Amino acid sequence: MNSGQNASSHPKSSPNLDLQDRNTFGFDASAELAYEITATDQISGIMQEIAEKQLTWRVLGGGSNVILPKVLPGATLLMNITGQQIITADASSTLIAVGGGVNWHEFVAWTLENDLPGLENLALIPGTVGAAPIQNIGAYGVEIGEYIDSVEAFDSKSHAFVTLTKDACQFAYRDSYFKKNPHHYIVTKVVFKIPKLWHARIHYADLAKQFSKNSSPSSEDVFLAVCKIRTHKLPDPKVIGNAGSFFQNPIVPNEQYETLLQKHPGLVSYPDAAGKRKLAAGWLIDQCGFKGRRMGDVGVYEKQALVLVNHGNGTAEDILGLAKCIQDKVRKEFGVSLDIEPNIL
Ligand code: EPU
Repeated sequence: MNSGQNASSHPKSSPNLDLQDRNTFGFDASAELAYEITATDQISGIMQEIAEKQLTWRVLGGGSNVILPKVLPGATLLMNITGQQIITADASSTLIAVGGGVNWHEFVAWTLENDLPGLENLALIPGTVGAAPIQNIGAYGVEIGEYIDSVEAFDSKSHAFVTLTKDACQFAYRDSYFKKNPHHYIVTKVVFKIPKLWHARIHYADLAKQFSKNSSPSSEDVFLAVCKIRTHKLPDPKVIGNAGSFFQNPIVPNEQYETLLQKHPGLVSYPDAAGKRKLAAGWLIDQCGFKGRRMGDVGVYEKQALVLVNHGNGTAEDILGLAKCIQDKVRKEFGVSLDIEPNIL
């Protein structure tokens, strides 16, 4: 790694740290006690101090997939380990090690500048590299788990650094071992494996439409197209607070899908694992008439019903109240449960 890794330093904590700029919903929130992590060798001391003080803890990356309360109790670890480096390259692939605190989109842009195409479908996803494996970020037909070789992390149970193979990460749709076990590992570094053989992955409807007249776009073309689609459909968190998709696309058995389709011929869905079907939650919410609806200072984004937004002074309670209204209505209309995607801290 080219920065931060060897700089040994004593854990430094900040009480009552303001987190309004560190959560993309822009909620007025603060951390009771925050530790900034800029090097791996700070972690052991910080975790020892946290254990001695008997504090609860969690890691905060870019804050783009969280719902924060007014005060986050206990210790909040701010992951700021940077640096990215090509470790090895052979005829078939390139391995790149990247610090958990690196900005995701900047890393994707860097891979393209270094002639390592593959991640372009995941351009402009907010957040950090360390958070990417937690929810197995995905967009436009690609999930990051496909490109991860291993993850390096601090194991809070054994108090040692470990390397998790891709299999150990248990990647699934918006899911991983880390997401199911939030207090086990602190992700410090992600090792990506980028195959040398590249082809544009443009089968996803929005991209297929963009390239209807160009069936062999470059990785740069795909990158720019993804940026254009996302900018058009999704609100910029710097302008209007949001955490991207607020609900997961629900996965239902094929029989339930067939029954729903008969009743609702416009139902949007995708094939999933054997015998299952993934429904477009945005479509379900849209059909219930929520798009653009406002409840106090929170609401449903006017161009994409899957995105809930903070119009200014909204709180975690407000957003969860709106989410409950949506969940109840969708269950009543379609008999389908929607799971909240961001982590409620
Ligand atoms: N739709 C509607 N009305 C809406 C929104 C969507 O009818 O208000 C329909 C669309 O017309 C489309 C379908 O629903 O036919 C799916 O919509 P879209 O292609 O926008 O994708 P999505 O399923 O809503 C998922 C991911 C996004 C990712 C896009 C593109 C989840 C939960 N969300 O959204 O991820 O960018 O696909 O691949 O899987 C995120 O996780 O934060 C995120 C933005």
